[in-house]
Amino acid sequence: MGLFSRNSIFPIYSELVTDMHCHLLPGVDDGSHDISETVACLKTMAEVGFKKVFFTPHFQAKYPNMEDDIQQRFAKLKQELSSYPNLPEVAAVSGEYRFDPLFARRPGVDKVVLLPNNMLLSEFSLHDSNYMPFDTFMAYLDMHYTPILAHPERYPYLGPNSPEIKKMKDIGILFQINILSLDGFYGQVAMEKGFEYIEKGYVELLGTDMHNTSYANALAHSTNNRRIKKMLKSHTFMNNTL
Ligand SMILES: [Fe+2]
Repeated sequence: MGLFSRNSIFPIYSELVTDMHCHLLPGVDDGSHDISETVACLKTMAEVGFKKVFFTPHFQAKYPNMEDDIQQRFAKLKQELSSYPNLPEVAAVSGEYRFDPLFARRPGVDKVVLLPNNMLLSEFSLHDSNYMPFDTFMAYLDMHYTPILAHPERYPYLGPNSPEIKKMKDIGILFQINILSLDGFYGQVAMEKGFEYIEKGYVELLGTDMHNTSYANALAHSTNNRRIKKMLKSHTFMNNTL
C-alpha cells in the first residue's frame, strides 16, 4: 500500500452503481466473518461510489452451501443491516458457482440463485485447466440463463487471445473483471490481462469480489489509480442495469 492514506478515497465507481460480486454474507465461505466486518466493507463500498450490492457466496465443493440456507441467512442479515446508516442497498443474494465436474451432480442444481436478468455468476478452478464446461454453458444458455465468467484475468491458463476465450464470447458468455486486479492486487499479469480484456471489448461487468477489510482497503486504494479512472471514463459496463 506504500504511502497510501486511508483518507484518500474517491467515489470513482459511482457510475457503475452496483457491485454484483462479493463475499459479505458472514460465515458461509472464505469471505466476511461477522456482521461488523460486513458493515466495514459495505461502508467502503459506499465511499467509493457503490449504491447497490448483490452478495454472491461461493457454491463449490469446499463450501457446500445450499440455496435455501443462504437465502434464510441473507434475509436475517438484511434485517440486521437496516439499523446501520449510510450503507449501499443490499439488494439480494445470488451465488458464485464453481463450474467443475461436481457442479452438475450437486443437490439442488435446479435451484441456482440468479442475479437479475437471469444472470448466473460462475467461475472455473484457478489451477485446473482441464475442465472448460462448454456443455454446461450451453445447457444454461438453452434455459435462457446468461452465464457470467468471473475474473477471466485470474486464470493462468487463459488469456485474451486464447481460443477458449474467443469461443466463450462467441456463444454469449459475459465477462466480469475484478476491479482489484486492475490495481495490481493479484499481481502484474492479472492486471495487464484485465486491461487487455477490457480494451478488446470483452468485458460487460466489473466486480469487487470483496471478501474482507483488506479487500476494502485495496478497493479504497484503487480509487487513486489514474489508469483505472481513465478506463472508467472511456468504457461503459452493465453494472448499472442490475
Ligand atoms: Fe468471488
